Amino acid sequence: MCGIAGYVGDYDAKSILYECIKRLEYRGYDSYGYAIISSNKLFVEKNVGYIKPISLNVRANIGIAHTRWATHGKVSKENAHPHTSCNNLIAVVHNGIIKNFKELRNELINKGHKFKSETDTEVVAHLIEEYLKENDFEEAFRKAILKLKGSFAIAAIYVNQPDKILIARNENPLLIGIGNFGNFIASDVNAFIKYTKRAIALDDFEYGIVTKNGFVIKDLYTKRKIKKSEIRIDWDEDLALKEGYEHFMLKEINEEPIVVSYALNINFDENILNLLLNSSKIYLIGAGTSLHAGMHAEYWFSKYCRIQAIATDATELFERCVVDKDTTIIAISQSGETYDTLVAMKEAKKHGAKIISIVNVPGSTATRLSDYTILQGAGVEVAVCATKTYVSQLVILLKLILELSKRLGYYDGFLDEEISSLKEKIENVLRNCNDIRKVANDMFKSKNYLFLSRGINLPSAYEAALKLKEITYFHAEGMSSAMLKHGTISLIDENMETIFLIPGSGRNRERIISNLHEVLSRGGKVLAITPKEVKDVVNIIVPDTSEDLLPIVFAPAYQLLAYYVAYKYGREIDKPRHLAKSVTVE
Ligand code: AGP
Repeated sequence: MCGIAGYVGDYDAKSILYECIKRLEYRGYDSYGYAIISSNKLFVEKNVGYIKPISLNVRANIGIAHTRWATHGKVSKENAHPHTSCNNLIAVVHNGIIKNFKELRNELINKGHKFKSETDTEVVAHLIEEYLKENDFEEAFRKAILKLKGSFAIAAIYVNQPDKILIARNENPLLIGIGNFGNFIASDVNAFIKYTKRAIALDDFEYGIVTKNGFVIKDLYTKRKIKKSEIRIDWDEDLALKEGYEHFMLKEINEEPIVVSYALNINFDENILNLLLNSSKIYLIGAGTSLHAGMHAEYWFSKYCRIQAIATDATELFERCVVDKDTTIIAISQSGETYDTLVAMKEAKKHGAKIISIVNVPGSTATRLSDYTILQGAGVEVAVCATKTYVSQLVILLKLILELSKRLGYYDGFLDEEISSLKEKIENVLRNCNDIRKVANDMFKSKNYLFLSRGINLPSAYEAALKLKEITYFHAEGMSSAMLKHGTISLIDENMETIFLIPGSGRNRERIISNLHEVLSRGGKVLAITPKEVKDVVNIIVPDTSEDLLPIVFAPAYQLLAYYVAYKYGREIDKPRHLAKSVTVE
């Protein structure tokens, strides 16, 4: 979940490293650090808190940097990366978890190594130092990596060979950025997108030697050279800038109309459609927000294709589903790096399943594990809280399912006009942001919230609750309004705020309003988010559309609501505590 960056080239590594690692701060923000080599000396600077530039006044053409999301050892300057060897000639940064670090640490202590931190990572610097006694840097690095059990993306530099960065990967993303004035390494393309849009991704058990003029990738076990294809990152680098918005989250919500237009223009590969039409089982897997997108798709699959697809938390796939060669997995992941989702994908492959992924980050691990990938094209999402990428996932899934429905002879285009007006409807919600802000300021005084709905908008309730709790740190729960009376209603009193997501017409509107009255009559506070005003409660009105499309129109409304509540309480909106943008650990 941490971020790694590195640079070797003609220019001053200090400012480049700062630019790169700053762009990865959303991957972890407990602490940070740099290691650079200048005049045959290693300089390390690290600190707790948000990333600041290197203060050292030396010139360097090589360096590595890290932003940390603590796993082993508390948040402290000592535990921040890079970690160094006893002789201070080697520096290492690492993402992931080294499971056997205690044994390795004890072995190294017995050999006389002195440790300065509580981290698992530090063993790597000492192991390289140990192997350097009888090997060159590359071989010492390779041998050190082969001792590790667990997951890692690692980069190392060595004072006596100041022309190269060595890198290795297992289960954690690691890329090389091919520049014109040097090369980059990073855990995420965002790090170097300002400098280059050409990238190479390492796969598990590969290591690389990156120099100013090139790179080589090899198999960790056999040392055989591996040819890789280049990935082009067609993202606008400015998307990683706030452009006048106070927070990335607000900027990214405001990008939803563009994201919807892009998603509506995606044409699906015939192979994807045929695969889905011929699969006897379809499972949608993901985590958090991406899982919620999959849950909506489950409803759309059953309604428009009469196909029983199942959406499941990726970690539960093998607990509850039969996965075999007749199965197609639709893996949904903004980052394409979520550990839990990747593990399920790998396991499903072993069982003979085919995998289609819906991913936002080009070249991410999920894209390389999939038989087919639908790239979301939503551009970089910096705020930890997923907003525009969720809306894009919804539109892509809806379009895909309607295309299948058409081929099955069920869909004749009756929603097409409404779908083409989704962009305007979202713009309308965004224009009404002051009304939403007012509600956020006037209500939302409690520490507990219930988001309630039914039918296709039930996953909207889950997602709205996730948004609120993620960035406000208040407890929120999404549930079926029908299920309220089966237990949760006992929580209702004047301190419980309930938010109902209600369609503008139809059976579910009547049913949900009836549940809303059950709350009102018990003294609960109620807010309705709906296209048609509900009497006796506070309303946020959104443009009317078919109930099945409402998840896409509700999303910006409850996302803005969560944003303004978090703003009111002065939260770190783009970087909520304890979180990171992609969860690359188990
Ligand atoms: C969303 O706001 C969260 N930050 C989180 O639930 C996220 O959706 C989840 O970790 C999955 O991430 P992914 O889409 O990158 O796989």
